[in-house]
Amino acid sequence: MRSLIFLGFLAVALEVNAQQGFVSIDCGMDGSTSYNDTVTGITYEPDAKYINSGVNYKINMTYLQAATPVQAETLRAFPNGSRNCYTIDGIIQGDKYLIRGLFFHGNYDGLTTVAFELHLGMNFWQLVNITEPSDPIWREIITVAQDNSFSVCLVNIKSGTPFISALELRHIDSTDVYIDGNQTNSLVLYARVNMGAAAQDIRYPDDAYDRIWRFDITPPVWSDINSSQPIQTSPRDAFQVPPAVMATAVTPANGTSLMFYFGADTGVVYYIYMHFAEFNALSQTENRIFDVFVNDELKASSVKPEYLLSTHISLSLTSALGTEVTYNFALNSTIGSSFPPILNAIEAYSVLPLQ
Ligand SMILES: *[C@@H]1O[C@H](CO)[C@@H](O)[C@H](O)[C@H]1NC(C)=O
Ligand SMILES: *[C@@H]1O[C@H](CO)[C@@H](O)[C@H](O)[C@H]1NC(C)=O
Ligand SMILES: *[C@@H]1O[C@H](CO)[C@@H](O)[C@H](O)[C@H]1NC(C)=O
Ligand SMILES: *[C@@H]1O[C@H](CO)[C@@H](O)[C@H](O)[C@H]1NC(C)=O
Ligand SMILES: *[C@@H]1O[C@H](CO)[C@@H](O)[C@H](O)[C@H]1NC(C)=O
Ligand SMILES: *[C@@H]1O[C@H](CO)[C@@H](O)[C@H](O)[C@H]1NC(C)=O
Ligand SMILES: *[C@@H]1O[C@H](CO)[C@@H](O)[C@H](O)[C@H]1NC(C)=O
Ligand SMILES: *[C@@H]1O[C@H](CO)[C@@H](O)[C@H](O)[C@H]1NC(C)=O
Repeated sequence: MRSLIFLGFLAVALEVNAQQGFVSIDCGMDGSTSYNDTVTGITYEPDAKYINSGVNYKINMTYLQAATPVQAETLRAFPNGSRNCYTIDGIIQGDKYLIRGLFFHGNYDGLTTVAFELHLGMNFWQLVNITEPSDPIWREIITVAQDNSFSVCLVNIKSGTPFISALELRHIDSTDVYIDGNQTNSLVLYARVNMGAAAQDIRYPDDAYDRIWRFDITPPVWSDINSSQPIQTSPRDAFQVPPAVMATAVTPANGTSLMFYFGADTGVVYYIYMHFAEFNALSQTENRIFDVFVNDELKASSVKPEYLLSTHISLSLTSALGTEVTYNFALNSTIGSSFPPILNAIEAYSVLPLQ
């Protein structure tokens, strides 16, 4: 009886604590007081308890733009040592996590070129190469915890002083999502775009995992469309893309084909997730059906978005080692489709094999 009551209490506590599984660190912040971000409501804490090396800096406010997150205002730089690491404890081994760094240079050291490496434990994760001091750079990875802590390291490659503005960790509490990320393969974010969106990124609290859905400028050959009706997240679709992201999409301005491309590294596997929802209440005689091609190869046939319901397709792309590769995507209406293709959101990740 006592344990039943305890469980009941626990369930209520979990419901109330919305940022469950979040670790949000504002690097280079003095003191020991946390604060709540006014845009997202996320509670950020100073970084002193996660690292004991480095020097704190405040950037010159003239480099901040209206949309720059406040976490960019301070940073921690590492003039000494070839490798400086943040250690985050309390991790559930075998569970999936999203880990993200924010790097905002803001000309704090008066040096215009800075490059360094980011490592996850002993594994190279990604290069950070600053070329524009007022552009925020995010680096993100979806990874399965191999231990009960994460070690995020900044590695000096003798191209300036490594630094970091914010470090965020989000527990992904579903085993059915990003299944291409597993014990051996991590997924490094290449792009996550909210198609047809207004000029504003969408993240927490719209997105329960605090994924950042970037807006992009719609080219003239496409049209922005949106739904005034709410989009439901299907129980069959573990991605749980925020309804606000799914409620906008692109479609061809003219014709029956949506085409785009990206340049990629060779010898690397990419996973592409495309998210769809139909906005029109189609009659019995109407339909919207399209095929998805990459470099003229059929990757998904007869895609038929569901009315006001999120669904997705996933594709994998591989190329032999060699020079650069370009992936040309075409979403083409099938013969007889009454409506052109649509695309609500897209994510692209490269695979990082872990040692
Ligand atoms: C910050 O947010 C948390 C959780 O959302 C809340 O409990 C706390 O009262 C907030 N703190 C301040 C200073 O607003
Ligand atoms: C870096 O090393 C120099 C020389 O040993 C020392 O004077 C300085 O305090 C160190 N700085 C930091 C941030 O550890
Ligand atoms: C901030 O940057 C502006 C523009 O480069 C410069 O005029 C100003 O002196 C800087 N302020 C500080 C405190 O460094
Ligand atoms: C950083 O980017 C610049 C400009 O694209 C490039 O010249 C430089 O080689 C890059 N640095 C590294 C370490 O890759
Ligand atoms: C991870 O996924 C890759 C690609 O699907 C697969 O080859 C590998 O065996 C998987 N590893 C584990 C531990 O499941
Ligand atoms: C939705 O589309 C209508 C008609 O094109 C447009 O006026 C409105 O601004 C759009 N809303 C959003 C949120 O994009
Ligand atoms: C649409 O495409 C057709 C055929 O290519 C062309 O004749 C027409 O001018 C185009 N309309 C617009 C608005 O671009
Ligand atoms: C897709 O449609 C475009 C425009 O009609 C066409 O040029 C292209 O060849 C089509 N792609 C495939 C693989 O059929």
